[in-house]
Amino acid sequence: MLIKIPKNWELPESKATPENVYLNRRTVLKGMAGAGLIASIGSNAAFREAFAAGAADPSASLYPVPRNDLYKVSRALTPEKIATTYNNFYEFGSHKEIYVAAQALEIRPWTVKIDGMVEKEMEIDIDDLLAKMPLEERIYRHRCVEGWSMVVPWSGFPMKELVKLAAPTSGAKYVVMQTFQDKSVAPGQRQFWYPWPYTDGLTIEEATNDLTFLVTGLYGKPLPKQNGSPLRLAAPWKYGFKQVKSIVRFSFTDKRPETFWETLISNEYGFWANINPEVPHPRWSQAEERDIGTGEKIPTLLYNGYGEYVSDMYKDMKGERLFM
Ligand code: MTE
Repeated sequence: MLIKIPKNWELPESKATPENVYLNRRTVLKGMAGAGLIASIGSNAAFREAFAAGAADPSASLYPVPRNDLYKVSRALTPEKIATTYNNFYEFGSHKEIYVAAQALEIRPWTVKIDGMVEKEMEIDIDDLLAKMPLEERIYRHRCVEGWSMVVPWSGFPMKELVKLAAPTSGAKYVVMQTFQDKSVAPGQRQFWYPWPYTDGLTIEEATNDLTFLVTGLYGKPLPKQNGSPLRLAAPWKYGFKQVKSIVRFSFTDKRPETFWETLISNEYGFWANINPEVPHPRWSQAEERDIGTGEKIPTLLYNGYGEYVSDMYKDMKGERLFM
């Protein structure tokens, strides 16, 4: 008997997307059609319009920033147009072409709150934060739990610099990151079945690891809105859903946070989400990935190839679902 087992990159979207989310996608698409958004997706004019808006970013003069050559990747860089038009940002829709809808996000003024178990809570304007931080460029792999990956030049600063600024008290164990919440610009946030705002977190040890990067730019320019402007996380040994976009709040706490995806579907998307080709997602294999720049299928690496930086953090952890 011949049974065709689809490879993970051949998965229909109904398999690669959590089922309840997939079923709700129709509602989103219907709403977008009503708003006239579908017609403009993918057209060159819409792409140009979206990027003309990005050119007005007040941080534009800061870029490009010096590249830190410690962090490079042997694979080819993903073309900018692909990395900036194939995105996940559920606030703007549960499909990949949210880059037009995301232009509705106002990124100035933008205030970042630092609160919880810190010496002194604060609110800091994004441009003041950018002025304080040592900006550099790093080329990182970026691997989504859905089975696709890219290689991108992020600009930003090490997250440990933000932790230093926050000065957490000795009892703090986790840092929780939250995305903005505003239904008037983010149609996805009108969908009450999602636990908005988008929330995820790291242990303090993870947040202060050398690799952990807060991203403010991409391809030598300010970060496009669809990629999570003005501030998003890149912790490249973890699946993409950990990489919170458009962050407005860092809270320090002694309790492990309930994250957006864990709250929705805890048996498929956990807190740790470290990349491991040998631990399949409950509905598909994680052994390989499709590079969305080249279309090539390549083997997935343990910790996405960053084991030398991060594996020590997990060596004594027992009974945790570290790879899901
Ligand atoms: N952050 C927010 N606020 N909303 C989201 O839907 N999606 C996550 C992550 N951060 C998401 C988010 C997922 S699933 C992935 S794979 C990455 O963003 C995608 O980042 P990219 O679009 O820059 O490739």
